Amino acid sequence: MPGAAFRKLFLVLCVIAALAAVAWLSLRESGVVDPFVSTYDRHCSRCHGANLEGVPALGTALVNTELSHGDSVAALGKSIAHGFPQSGMQPWSAQLSAEEIRGLAIYIAERRVDRLFTDFKVDAPIAIPGGIVETEAQAFRVEIVTDRIDPLPFSIAPLPDGRILVSEKMKGLRIVETDGSVSELISGTPAVFDDSIELVLVWGHGWLLDVALHPEYASNGWIYLHHTERCADCTLIARSVNRVVRGRIRDGRWVDEEVIWNPGAEYYSFVPDIGAGGRLAFDDAGYLYISVGIKGSSNFDGVQDLAKPWGKIHRVHDDGRVPADNPFARTAGAYPTIWTYGHRSPQGLEFSNRRQQLWSTEMGPRGGDELNLLRPGRNYGWPLTSLGLNYDGSAIAYGEWLDLAFDLNDIEQPVVDFTPAPAVSSFIFYEGGQFPRWQGNALVGSLKASELYRIVLDENDRLVRSEVLLKRLARIRDVETGPDGNVYLLLEHAGGGQIVRLVPADA
Ligand code: HEC
Repeated sequence: MPGAAFRKLFLVLCVIAALAAVAWLSLRESGVVDPFVSTYDRHCSRCHGANLEGVPALGTALVNTELSHGDSVAALGKSIAHGFPQSGMQPWSAQLSAEEIRGLAIYIAERRVDRLFTDFKVDAPIAIPGGIVETEAQAFRVEIVTDRIDPLPFSIAPLPDGRILVSEKMKGLRIVETDGSVSELISGTPAVFDDSIELVLVWGHGWLLDVALHPEYASNGWIYLHHTERCADCTLIARSVNRVVRGRIRDGRWVDEEVIWNPGAEYYSFVPDIGAGGRLAFDDAGYLYISVGIKGSSNFDGVQDLAKPWGKIHRVHDDGRVPADNPFARTAGAYPTIWTYGHRSPQGLEFSNRRQQLWSTEMGPRGGDELNLLRPGRNYGWPLTSLGLNYDGSAIAYGEWLDLAFDLNDIEQPVVDFTPAPAVSSFIFYEGGQFPRWQGNALVGSLKASELYRIVLDENDRLVRSEVLLKRLARIRDVETGPDGNVYLLLEHAGGGQIVRLVPADA
């Protein structure tokens, strides 16, 4: 069957591509040539300078200065394509492809915010602002809650009594006390494995991911954990699969465990857990949503396949039953818990009570990070299309490879496109009482950019404005609202993770 053979070949190529990406990234200190840099060097540097600093009498500076014709990726692309023949820059649209022009625009935008895509800022010093941070709508201070967290945590869940549950990917679950001390590991939670090959691009199989409280936690004590379960019998090569359980904590132990969502052994895969997604969110009717990334056995191909759990947001009842009104519950052969599909790396998942909507964040490739409104049954496009480009500069268009025809009109576009990619992580809709002027805004964290964004949306689900609240803080892995209405951030860092909180300046 040529289709199947082709898919196998594709799988092999995907694995090679993934390994190449890792090799590429781990070579970042040894002067690897970025494809966008070589295009720039070939065509642009003689007038704009090797470091985009400009060349007197030939070309203007493209960094450390305002640009006359706009500095969004779209505006940069337009400047490059159309040129400025009167002032000496030819139009490039005849000589360069649309991808090359978009690649150059992304490259210039990255350089303008000093965000090299090979710089993950894992050991850049954590920069907690000392005084009051003045921003457009609210002034705040940043307080350290604890600095005794593992370098690679994933999630926090503030408890009603002011303590905080924290999951550490390769350690397990712990409780941060109100005085900042951290408990021993809670015994009995699902097994985790510490087999990273490098701090940045950890290559794990078997991690603890999101921790979330049941909406009625105060009365029922249920805590939900999303983890990747490692196959015990797969001896040759480690394999794992996403899984969700719930349980309670009693006397420092994890008890009453129940399995809530479990694709099972059929879906064990050797794709590393960085592709797992791993978030959880409840809506106000008590449904549980589960984000799963491109951790499929055949990588990209499962993402558009409704029979497979990969690259999907799933929806179940709080006890794991499949809701009868799920969009594909009655579609023959479909995985019945699917809510939306075509997701790449869904790092954030959140229900807004105010808006009565479910939203997600997702990391794109080079560019194309997204904030998405999740509408039931819809396709979010990966790996058929993306506003980002592959790391080698080519367009995302795996439809041909996968033998999948599609109509762009059938694909949901992001409400917010983050290009150049900050590596968006988790987010909240702020609905607490401490920051009235952030009411209903999305507060979105990022890893590589180490920034916290405030995103204002209107009632028609359109982006109204965005603001950087914190710059160069640290890799922000999770964002939560505490029961006190303050905003809590989980920071990861090679020297040890931290939890900080944003409190109003006048508090
Ligand atoms: C022969 C010299 C020359 C070359 C080659 C050249 N440019 Fe330019 N470029 C200019 C000049 C001069 C301007 C200023 C035009 C103006 O503002 O009227 C400019 C403007 C720009 C701008 C707009 C800057 C702003 O202030 O908004 C961008 C973006 C840009 N160039 C990108 C590129 C890229 C990318 C390439 C390579 C594909 C390139 N240029 C090649 C001379 C050059």
